[in-house]
Amino acid sequence: MIQLENIYLSLGGRPILKNINFAVPRGETKVILGPSGSGKSSILKIILGLWRPDSGRVIIDGRDMTGASNEEWDRARYHIGMIFQEGALFDSLTVGENIGYWLFEHTKMSEEEIEVRVGRALVEVGLDPEILDRMPDELSGGMRRRVAIARALASLEPKIMLYDEPTTGLDPLAVETIIDQITSLQKRKEVTSLVVTHDISDALKVSNRFIMIAEGEVIFDGNSEELRGSNHPFVFRFLGPFKSTLAHAFASFGEEKG
Ligand SMILES: Nc1ncnc2c1ncn2[C@@H]1O[C@H](COP(=O)(O)OP(=O)(O)OP(=O)(O)O)[C@@H](O)[C@H]1O
Ligand SMILES: [Mg+2]
Repeated sequence: MIQLENIYLSLGGRPILKNINFAVPRGETKVILGPSGSGKSSILKIILGLWRPDSGRVIIDGRDMTGASNEEWDRARYHIGMIFQEGALFDSLTVGENIGYWLFEHTKMSEEEIEVRVGRALVEVGLDPEILDRMPDELSGGMRRRVAIARALASLEPKIMLYDEPTTGLDPLAVETIIDQITSLQKRKEVTSLVVTHDISDALKVSNRFIMIAEGEVIFDGNSEELRGSNHPFVFRFLGPFKSTLAHAFASFGEEKG
């Protein structure tokens, strides 16, 4: 569903991504781990076509998007939901307008139809429809993140969901709600997902497949058992504080498989 081949990207003359190769098969979820500044968000922007790589191939849903026109990318993005690191709601629009914006712009749905869809999406992410007329800056960070997920749900039948640090800075209850959203979307809609996070215990709740990025390169691609066993010096150092979490998670994955 998502395939990156030999991706190089530089910004302002500085190399950001160096020879990125990985694939996410249809319906699967992969977690992107890695330190701040390693290039995780840049990878998502390449998959969205917001940034064009200097070289390499981007293949989305079996289509080679290398050299695709802006219109072709616009069409591809209809099927991609993106939860940006910053939440990225329009500050001057109400919650309801934020969620319905895409439908107003890109479909011929009536106002009533859009209202119904917007209300349903809000309930789906566990928010009270009462907040429809509030402005984004009247919401907490966790609520804003959920509104962003509701917007992706209402706007499209996403084939791909990209989450950029969806749980960072949230309290444990809000984290749980977001993780539930991610996993229920995986199951219900068979979407292919990429989840960027620093948090290994959150990562383990959404998938058992990981890649790790360091300084713009993929230094690991595999499951939690392989991650735990990796003797790559950077992987080893990054995982240090999480070793027992990983060991525990690996044990429970083993139990689930019988
Ligand atoms: N618009 C930009 N122009 C120039 N350099 C940029 C731009 N955006 C990001 N970078 C640089 O690209 C590198 C990778 O950034 P990126 O945002 O992909 O990292 P990240 O892994 O998502 O980090 P974080 O965990 O802090 O979000 C960083 O060195 C950053 O300074
Ligand atoms: Mg980032």
